[in-house]
Amino acid sequence: MELFTPVTVNNQVVKNRVVFPPIVNFGWSDTEGMVSQRHINHYEARAKGGAGLIIVEASCVQQDGKIFSYQLGIWDDKHIEGLSKITNACHKYGSKILIQLHHAGLLTRKAVSKVAWGPSADADNERSKAMSLEQVKVLTKNFILAAKRAYQAGFDGIELHGAHGYLLNQFTNEAINCRTDEYGGSFENRLRLPIEIIKGIKAEVPSNFIIDYRMAGCTPTLSEGIEMAKLLEQSGVNLLHVSHGGSKGINPEVPSGFGFNSIVYMGTEVKKHVRVPVIVVNQIKLPEDANSLIKNGQADMVAIGRDQLTDAEWAIKAQQGEDIIHCINCEPRCKRFTKPESCPLYNEL
Ligand SMILES: Cc1cc2nc3c(=O)[nH]c(=O)nc-3n(C[C@H](O)[C@H](O)[C@H](O)COP(=O)(O)O)c2cc1C
Repeated sequence: MELFTPVTVNNQVVKNRVVFPPIVNFGWSDTEGMVSQRHINHYEARAKGGAGLIIVEASCVQQDGKIFSYQLGIWDDKHIEGLSKITNACHKYGSKILIQLHHAGLLTRKAVSKVAWGPSADADNERSKAMSLEQVKVLTKNFILAAKRAYQAGFDGIELHGAHGYLLNQFTNEAINCRTDEYGGSFENRLRLPIEIIKGIKAEVPSNFIIDYRMAGCTPTLSEGIEMAKLLEQSGVNLLHVSHGGSKGINPEVPSGFGFNSIVYMGTEVKKHVRVPVIVVNQIKLPEDANSLIKNGQADMVAIGRDQLTDAEWAIKAQQGEDIIHCINCEPRCKRFTKPESCPLYNEL
């Protein structure tokens, strides 16, 4: 299976093309964002289960930008020790490991911060306020410092969370960003923040440290998403992970005969326009489907999220043709959004 052919990302060889995407474990951290033994066991199980690339859940770079109180943190040096236990546990099995750097921006909850800071105030959110230029500079520095901590904790790279309607996505999306300074307005201005962060990180870490960008394929439309992908590549991003843009992104129509949903479709379209490897994601469950995306040159790597939650050994079983315990797609949404233990197929150590 081509899914198990190694792939090189920024001069680092990833043993196969199965990615475990970032998935928050609600309630496993404390209000200080510290790693718990449950986190270590959880990521180690996916590494042992064969995933080539693991991306640790959204971890906040600034305390007032957490989406919820108990989110994992990387805003302080005190987080390095716990995070290094996760990287050690995963490296034992030969997986590469990144951590997702996150700021929720306008989606920061009230329990975290009275003010939800974003590129500009949101008419639908009375707690929201526009960040000053000075705050944008501090934020940039905090992303860079967080990436340095990730390096110190033994991560092979970082993923910037630029999708799902969170802060970086808010800056890049013209439907949200109404700034009139150099961080708003034109396409280049809206991309200025992520690009300054990317360049700042590159100046601080070894040249083979992976910088992955989780982007919204639609920012707000697919054609602008593709332009964004090209500019991110030019700015030094080594890997693109294409997902959706939350409520303000416009998902394209999928051509008839395309066997996957619009989020996967956006990834395959982005892939046509860049040279860096592209990860596609969303509702991909079967090894043969994941393999076909690689085999047909539509993607370089495939992220399997919920199905690697219900079966940590998804990758090994896929390679050996064994039965996989599949996610049963709870409605109206995944029960792990409340707490991991609510999943009907919960099976963590
Ligand atoms: C409980 C839960 C938490 C999630 N947390 C994150 C996160 O921290 N960062 C992120 O970018 N996406 C997050 N996601 C989205 C997943 O990374 C992934 O894109 C999504 O589950 C779709 O892939 P799947 O169909 O293979 O599960 C989360 C999804 C779920 C179900």
